[in-house]
Amino acid sequence: MVNVYIKGTGSYAPSNIVKNDYFEAIGSSDEWIFSKLGIRERRISIDEATSDLAYKAGLIAIQDASLTVEDIDLIIVATTTPDRPSPSCACFVQDKLNAVNAVAFDISAVCSGALFTMATAVQFVKTGMYKNVLVIGADTFSTIIDWERRDAVFFGDGAGAMVLSATTEDKGFIDFALHSDGKGKEHFTIPAGGSAKPASIETVKNREHYFQMNGKAVYDTATKVVPENIMEILNRNNFTIDDVDFLLPHQPSIRILQDVAKTINLPFEKVKTNMDRYANTSGGTVPIVLDETHKNNEFKKGDILLFAAVGAGWTWGTALYKW
Ligand SMILES: CC(C)(COP(=O)(O)OP(=O)(O)OC[C@H]1O[C@@H](n2cnc3c(N)ncnc32)[C@H](O)[C@@H]1OP(=O)(O)O)[C@@H](O)C(=O)NCCC(=O)NCCS
Repeated sequence: MVNVYIKGTGSYAPSNIVKNDYFEAIGSSDEWIFSKLGIRERRISIDEATSDLAYKAGLIAIQDASLTVEDIDLIIVATTTPDRPSPSCACFVQDKLNAVNAVAFDISAVCSGALFTMATAVQFVKTGMYKNVLVIGADTFSTIIDWERRDAVFFGDGAGAMVLSATTEDKGFIDFALHSDGKGKEHFTIPAGGSAKPASIETVKNREHYFQMNGKAVYDTATKVVPENIMEILNRNNFTIDDVDFLLPHQPSIRILQDVAKTINLPFEKVKTNMDRYANTSGGTVPIVLDETHKNNEFKKGDILLFAAVGAGWTWGTALYKW
């Protein structure tokens, strides 16, 4: 039987660090941001576009997998902030890598993007259509943050990547459980710049090209659907929460993750977090935290990993994985 496993990982974030005190000018504070969200600082791109971050993370993942760029036959990028509305960010990445044998496209699922992209990639490898898929989650939310509003504090820029390949060994992805609910579409959205409301002088003046977030709705939704989603995937695969060695989650805020861990009875030591250093990098969070934990040599053979994410749409999903 063919299993699909993570052959290599990589991540990259811009070197420019913005600390919490930067936001004092718009009425926030280090104390509020750290206590409510668990964030100390975030990386903000100065002159790199999303494809630059994605390319650098992707190249590290390919090297980590001991492959060459020619071995990659599919590149999928999860992003909300592509370099341009068209073509896809994945095509920019393919060109930068010179991955001449790769098909390339993007997936749009905002903060759940990495989960949706991993699930998509796994199908292509399982069917035998592609051998080595480069999955990237990358975002530069600094380009869609309204820097005059306090919800600017939540986000940072960064990219994570993984190469997924086939194996006959007893390891790899066990299952995915993905969900969407378009009724949540107004709670985290960029109102203008698309076909419903094309860019105009008026939309720019009204600052409608920046994202707008209903923080309470995000909190309430995340703390409800993520625990349900985790129990769904555990139950249908006959696992219990005690079988889980690591939760590798999206990084919305430390309180959301503490709340989720408490609901599912998972000791918080098993929850990997890095929002103190990166904040929420949207599509980047899950593959960045995976890369950090992997490069720290924390995983051992047979460990059970649980991936989980929730984001705009609403979208949410989990994946169960045997290392
Ligand atoms: C936003 C969030 C922290 C608010 O938490 P809360 O405990 O409900 O806080 P409230 O909305 O009652 O606001 C508490 C106070 O903080 C203030 N506040 C809100 N945003 C602030 C900011 N960025 N900096 C400083 N103070 C802020 C409010 O004005 C309020 O002040 P007041 O008590 O003087 O009126 C919480 O809803 C949350 O974490 N939501 C999830 C958002 C998220 O994860 N987004 C990522 C998308 S995946």
